[in-house]
Amino acid sequence: MHTVHTTPAVTTSARKTRDLSADLLIIPVFENDTLADESELDAATGGEYSAARQRREFSGKPFEQMMLPIAGAGWASTRAFFVGAGPREQSTTTVLRRIATMGGLAARQRRLATIAIAARPLEGVSNSAALQALIEGAVLANYEGTSYKTGGQPAVFLDRVEIRIPDVAAAALERGRVLGEYTNAARELSNEPGNVLTPRAFAERASKIAKDAGLDVEVLDEKQIAALNMGLLLGVARGSDQPPRVIVLRHEPKNAAKGVVLAFVGKGITFDTGGISIKPSDNMDKMKDDMSGGAAVLCAMAALSRLKAPVRCIGVIPATENMPGGRAMKPGDILTSAEGKTVEVLNTDAEGRLILGDALWYARKLGATHLVDVATLTGACVVALGRTTSGLFGRPDSWVERVQRASDRAGDRSWPMPIFDDYKDLLKSEIADFTNTGGRAGGAISAALFIKEFVGDLPWVHMDIAGTAWCEDPKPYQPKGATGVAVRTLAELALDVDAWSNLK
Ligand code: BES
Ligand code: MN
Ligand code: ZN
Repeated sequence: MHTVHTTPAVTTSARKTRDLSADLLIIPVFENDTLADESELDAATGGEYSAARQRREFSGKPFEQMMLPIAGAGWASTRAFFVGAGPREQSTTTVLRRIATMGGLAARQRRLATIAIAARPLEGVSNSAALQALIEGAVLANYEGTSYKTGGQPAVFLDRVEIRIPDVAAAALERGRVLGEYTNAARELSNEPGNVLTPRAFAERASKIAKDAGLDVEVLDEKQIAALNMGLLLGVARGSDQPPRVIVLRHEPKNAAKGVVLAFVGKGITFDTGGISIKPSDNMDKMKDDMSGGAAVLCAMAALSRLKAPVRCIGVIPATENMPGGRAMKPGDILTSAEGKTVEVLNTDAEGRLILGDALWYARKLGATHLVDVATLTGACVVALGRTTSGLFGRPDSWVERVQRASDRAGDRSWPMPIFDDYKDLLKSEIADFTNTGGRAGGAISAALFIKEFVGDLPWVHMDIAGTAWCEDPKPYQPKGATGVAVRTLAELALDVDAWSNLK
């Protein structure tokens, strides 16, 4: 396997544009914008910059690109890469993050290893937030999808990133670096094929990542899972020769906010065939990423541990394959959850909600006060919101809104969906407490209502990332493959320091 991501050395400076020294000087350009040191920069490009703007070859529209050689005497960089940033007054950290990723990817494609970004202060975005987003974006560019190809030229990675921005705290730099790094770590895990990343291998990789980040780790094996009566998880795992695992992570800082224990629960299906209700062959290979929620929980926990989030956090990741087989659960089977509730399995492909049910119960047992679960849960969510936005479900609204704000800061788009009780009839069973499927109409909502049966009275948010965990239609700032969605959302949530002192 080839190196899939590395972390560049990152520095900040307040140098003049001409003194920024890199193989590629990245210059964000807003529509109707005047650049810093614009006349000098224009002269250094032989007047090409202003000429291109005049003939509207380059107008600053979002993600336009233009590369120009710098020939001016006394300039430390040799190439300028202008990236359109759209209207200045509408700019957000999401735009900045994407510009940095585009610049970093453009450099790597040209086998250039150092970049500098000539950022300027933006109204409505603090310099610290801007710096964090730019660094995240640059680190995200340093990701190469896992490759098992033999031979070939090794990819070039960025080894140095300089960001020109005034008055920022070192904490923002560190945050950006760590959040970028662990987003890449999650992408690496999600890209791994199912035969490599079995539940046991996932648990081993998780233990290493967690220990390196200073977390406490405990891995429950099939015997311990059975002792806890996790009948839903065991029901899903029955069809597989690979034994299940539950990965439990703990972050317990000394300065923790009193009375708050955040619990993050992530779906860890290392491969989803659908089981006896088997999926069609077309695109079934993509179901190797069905553990992306688990990877997000793991990597967010690692990041928030490194960044010393001042709140107690627990991560619970139920990991298993969903396979057909002689012992596999069958449609019509009844399973009993660890909490004691009974479920009629009408479709073995609705396995995610089953394993989450037992895992959420376990998180409560471990003392959680606030729950967030993340899962590639339903095709219906992809139909509802497409491939750019994750679905948010939960209660109370204040908790859902808090998670949504964290996802905005993170650049993970998400949007709230309803969970009115009226939908509950969809899960009615003749012989058990409820079924595991609610039909096609409102499929993402009935899945959320199933999960809600296992969260007790706690504030809870369910994030359905079925559409957002994998990118099939690449963008200049988002290559094909796993996206690492939700890593930064969960970490941002835990790092929202003020929130934990005045929690409602
Ligand atoms: N892992 C899938 C959901 C999924 C579908 C993720 C497409 C990414 C892309 C999940 O386990 C599943 O199979 N869900 C079923 C539920 C149905 C049987 C009620 C679905 O959405 O079709
Ligand atoms: Mn499934
Ligand atoms: Zn699944």
